[in-house]
Amino acid sequence: MSEAIEVDIGDLPGVGPATRAKLESGGITTILDLAASTTNELVDNMNLTEETAHNLVYEAQKLLREKGYLEKDLVSANELFARRAKMLRCTTYSANLDDLLAGGIETQSVTEFYGEFGSGKTQICHTLCVSAQLPVDQHGLEGSALYIDTESTFRPERIAQIARARDQDIESVLNNIHIAKIYNASHLELIVRAMGGLIQQNNVRLVIVDSIISLHRAEFVGRGTLSERQQKLNAIMHRLKRVAEIYNVAVVITNQVQSTPDTFFGDPTKAAGGNIIGHASTYRIYLRKAGQERKAIMIDSPMHPYGDTNFMVVEGGITDPPDKKPIKILKNPPSSKHLEKEDEEE
Ligand code: GTP
Ligand code: MG
Repeated sequence: MSEAIEVDIGDLPGVGPATRAKLESGGITTILDLAASTTNELVDNMNLTEETAHNLVYEAQKLLREKGYLEKDLVSANELFARRAKMLRCTTYSANLDDLLAGGIETQSVTEFYGEFGSGKTQICHTLCVSAQLPVDQHGLEGSALYIDTESTFRPERIAQIARARDQDIESVLNNIHIAKIYNASHLELIVRAMGGLIQQNNVRLVIVDSIISLHRAEFVGRGTLSERQQKLNAIMHRLKRVAEIYNVAVVITNQVQSTPDTFFGDPTKAAGGNIIGHASTYRIYLRKAGQERKAIMIDSPMHPYGDTNFMVVEGGITDPPDKKPIKILKNPPSSKHLEKEDEEE
């Protein structure tokens, strides 16, 4: 169901076999991947001169604009409205969480789940890989999932368990999840650059990055490397956002909470990665353990009210607790006191 983008990199002025080969060596195989690149990325990774790199990105963006794939510099609210009308929502299998998200995970957006270890981030990702395959009229995305696994925590047997509990065909569900196991930060940068092609070839509707920050956090240690790390994360987030919009896919990222080595006195309820990740995520949801249950708190959203709700992790993935309660709407943004409270109900 991904709309095919029928423009080839070779259609750009000045792109011969040599340039094409250089771009391919850096993972750029589609015009969208090129259009979403920064000049620096091409210079650093693909051995292109700054002038060539600049021209390539410019021409790619221009061509996509002309063909109507990329938003023009100015769009009317009507055009935006038409684009938003194509947006789909994917159920999490928890009505509570769906309500908090105003109907589920959205395509054309980046949804960030952050929280401490064991708060359910990876379990939500696994569950979404199953529910995304449901037909649209059953609140799925009718497409496959691309799972970018940076922590080696993807488990096919967990997928099989969830699919079985949800009466979905296990083999077909497993067939429609494509896993990219990522071992280092530059590998993550590479796969994110090359994502357009993967999405088109595999009818991907859901892209998971679990987690967005662990590799960069491990590789860029110490104050001196912070700005380089943030620059790299910024490029990744920028591209994820673009991909979500252009290919009408839902992008879900997980993030850790801040603790050392980022800062000794950090607020433990703050997401890692600073503003770079926060600003690029359309929705941010903070997760924390609450006894046997998990609490999900809407931290940042252009359209949802602040609120919180509870869900549970069970054999069938994510689900509602037995005593389903309506979303608790908060008048003000959640305070750190609210976030840290350890018991279930106040
Ligand atoms: P980190 O990646 O370590 O930061 O944590 P996370 O937020 O990704 O945690 P994850 O989603 O892996 O949650 C792990 C928790 O989910 C475990 O502590 C279990 O409580 C629960 N869980 C995982 N698998 C199952 C299962 O098959 N059945 C049930 N009932 N619970 C499960
Ligand atoms: Mg995890």
